[in-house]
Amino acid sequence: MFYQPEKESHGLPHSPLKACVAPRPIGWISSLDADGKANLAPYSFFQMLNDRPPVVIFSSIGKKDSQNNVEVSGEFVYSMVPKSLTDAMNATSINAPSHIDEFEFAGLTKAASNLVSAPRVAESPIAFECKVHQILDVPNSHPGMKVTAIIGLVVGVHIDDDVLVDGIIDTNKIQPLARLGYMEYAAAENVFTLNRPIWKD
Ligand SMILES: Cc1cc2nc3c(=O)[nH]c(=O)nc-3n(C[C@H](O)[C@H](O)[C@H](O)COP(=O)(O)O)c2cc1C
Repeated sequence: MFYQPEKESHGLPHSPLKACVAPRPIGWISSLDADGKANLAPYSFFQMLNDRPPVVIFSSIGKKDSQNNVEVSGEFVYSMVPKSLTDAMNATSINAPSHIDEFEFAGLTKAASNLVSAPRVAESPIAFECKVHQILDVPNSHPGMKVTAIIGLVVGVHIDDDVLVDGIIDTNKIQPLARLGYMEYAAAENVFTLNRPIWKD
């Protein structure tokens, strides 16, 4: 099948679109509001754009608490979602009023960051402390809302020593959760190694 997304219907019972770019990593984004209240929510429109320096991006469909906080504070933290925290991650996606602290709602622990004010998820083995680099408008046809991409410069990296095996992050130990299409998820469990080919004249 072929369809032009902004011009015609896909004709399927549910939009196939998100399943077409899958698996997507889940950026578990924590931030502080102007009063210092913590906020935590999952964003699967999330990716790392560069490694030197490390840069991450997440996209807010409508202006949500995370975007509000990040615009005001200029900071956020990304925590990885291991499979073991699936239910907690899902709980933090609740559309709670802005005064609700989703760490508390989901029974998660805050760990202090070193360089930014927002806490990270203590139960997560990986976290990036980020400073906002750029905020961009994203092409959008969602009725009545804006879509905004937030690019963050990663200024600090936390790695739990327990997931380091012989100096390498053992992804099998973390089983990072990823978002697929519809209401589907997958965890990275069957990790294998593949070296890139090298051209020889
Ligand atoms: C796995 C998952 C991924 C999500 N990805 C996004 C996303 O990329 N962008 C977005 O705007 N909302 C996304 N959501 C919905 C937000 O998490 C939800 O609207 C949340 O309440 C926003 O919280 P906040 O207002 O505290 O920022 C996602 C939800 C789940 C469960």
